[in-house]
Amino acid sequence: MQDIRNIVVLTGAGISAESGIATFRGPGGLWEGHRVEDVCTPEALAADPALVHRFYDLRRAALAGVEPNPAHRALARLDAAWEGELLIVTQNVDDLHERAGAMRMLHMHGELLSALCAVCGAHEAWTGALPEGSACGACGAATLRPDIVFFGEMPYQMERIEAALAKADLFVSIGTSGAVYPAAGFVQTAAYHGARTLELNLEPSMGSVFFGETRIGAAGVLVPVWVEEVLSSTPAE
Ligand code: NAD
Ligand code: APR
Repeated sequence: MQDIRNIVVLTGAGISAESGIATFRGPGGLWEGHRVEDVCTPEALAADPALVHRFYDLRRAALAGVEPNPAHRALARLDAAWEGELLIVTQNVDDLHERAGAMRMLHMHGELLSALCAVCGAHEAWTGALPEGSACGACGAATLRPDIVFFGEMPYQMERIEAALAKADLFVSIGTSGAVYPAAGFVQTAAYHGARTLELNLEPSMGSVFFGETRIGAAGVLVPVWVEEVLSSTPAE
């Protein structure tokens, strides 16, 4: 790893699977019981806000019973010890990376533990149920909604992510099916700018062909091994 200094890590639902959070598309996946257009679109929120709020209230409540697993903890170790640049971009809306101690990270698809004002755009930390019509702490309007990026909405912090991808030496994708853009395209962006690319996933993802290397297995096993490999080297100058 002598030539590596800037690392971008992308994580998806697979990294939280061993903590007991259902993935989106696997057997028992979250989307199985719901049509995505019923719970994860602006149209769904307008048509049946109670259903959308309830869906995310259940997801938020489920966080109380889960813990970070060895994959989250290994990434937090990397974050604490790596002297080069690092950005962990998660598509997950759980808080397991933070609970493991990761700091250099962002949630591109929003967060369960946050509410968004549909009128003024303020974000507000939120725990417990989010009743329909809850008032925004910033503007007072009764328009708080789950702070989740719905289909058809723009993921968060794309400029920061694109900038990190453009100067990455290594891009690593963990536990994501590669079904949802723009995250599914990050591997090609990073490779275009010269990064090495590595996929760690339980099965080949939809974008596997774009990765220089794919390791198949559980994140809880593969991620700690990979982190030790990286930390046994020093960042390039
Ligand atoms: P889109 O409607 O164009 O679909 C994106 C991809 O999702 C397509 O390739 C589609 O094939 C695939 N898809 C089809 N059925 C699906 C299903 N049941 N569940 C999930 N994916 C399915 O989406 P978009 O307009 O590009 O969405 C905008 C952005 O919103 C996405 O880029 C994504 O980052 C974000 N998003 C967030 C969430 C969330 O839960 N936080 C969910 C979906 C999308
Ligand atoms: N270790 C590693 N990978 C795993 C594990 C595990 N223990 N368990 C499952 N996986 C893999 C699956 O094989 C699958 O390829 O993780 C991937 C999970 O894929 P999805 O359920 O599609 O989740 P994700 O890619 O994060 O979904 C992307 O879609 O619905 C939207 O916004 C939502 O952020 C989400 C986005």
